[in-house]
Amino acid sequence: MPAISASAPGKVILFGEHAVVYGQPAIAVPVTEVQAKAIVTGRPDQPAGWVNLQAPNIGLEAPLMDLPADNPLSKAVKGVFEAPSISRIPAMTIRITSTIPIAAGLGSGAAVSVAIIRAVSEFLGQPLPDERVSALAFEVEKLHHGTPSGIDNTVITYALPVYFVRTDQGEMKRVETFKVSRPFTILIGDSGVPSPTSVTVGDVRRAWQVNTARFESLFESTGAIVEHARRAIEHGDIKALGPLMDENHELLVDMDVSSIELDRLIQAARQAGALGAKLSGGGRGGNMIALVKPAEANFISESLKTAGATNTIVTQVKS
Ligand code: PMV
Repeated sequence: MPAISASAPGKVILFGEHAVVYGQPAIAVPVTEVQAKAIVTGRPDQPAGWVNLQAPNIGLEAPLMDLPADNPLSKAVKGVFEAPSISRIPAMTIRITSTIPIAAGLGSGAAVSVAIIRAVSEFLGQPLPDERVSALAFEVEKLHHGTPSGIDNTVITYALPVYFVRTDQGEMKRVETFKVSRPFTILIGDSGVPSPTSVTVGDVRRAWQVNTARFESLFESTGAIVEHARRAIEHGDIKALGPLMDENHELLVDMDVSSIELDRLIQAARQAGALGAKLSGGGRGGNMIALVKPAEANFISESLKTAGATNTIVTQVKS
């Protein structure tokens, strides 16, 4: 049996973080320059049902049966095995590698799940449709996040921009993929400051409780920017996106989720020629993003590093 491999990209939030928690729409896009990869190799020298998992990036090598039920890798594999149509599991090794930075808001957990689910189901001769791949990856996401929004598994499975609206409880109310008429280039800069999303989400909630009218207005303005951005991406009006990113960042500053480090990187990107820039994800640390002309991406990336970025990724958003 030949080895089977499958890959899945990372993701980044382009517009609408935080306001999305309050029912406004947001947009996330795939980051195809970083990938998680799963390779499944048959092991005819071993008995049926023998499954060995290797994830060198995190120093893991273990038989599937030795991993706890709440191990995300094991849950992804078992999600495929448990399909009613699978009656026999041939012996196999599943090797997982990834170039997606871990715990950086870039969707590394969901990408690993999607790669595993695709490679294992194909190896078993029962490749799953995207809808099923995304649903299984969502189940694994629950181990990482408790109440995941479903955005990571969707944008990563379909590898297309996703427009989404969620409820206060974190469930998905609307999730739509959409087309990019003209490709555009995004530069991602990591501030190197770890910042758990749960902390900033909690802080925004407390501020909203104290100052409800002001925060509702910030969220509504954010929602309007997201709608505008979606239309601009669909119509290929890339020029409009830069100012929209700047405006969205100002609203995030008003929500008090930026930081000196993020603002320094955003300023540096603009000064070096970016068409717009904002923080991305939970804020206070983590990543910022900038819209850049492809020819200027390397120069602006170097400027970000000089301003303190610990890592940069240049990604082309396209359909
Ligand atoms: O940093 P990420 O990719 O996990 O995004 C967080 C986005 C928030 O809107 C701040 C929180 C959320 O759950 O939507």
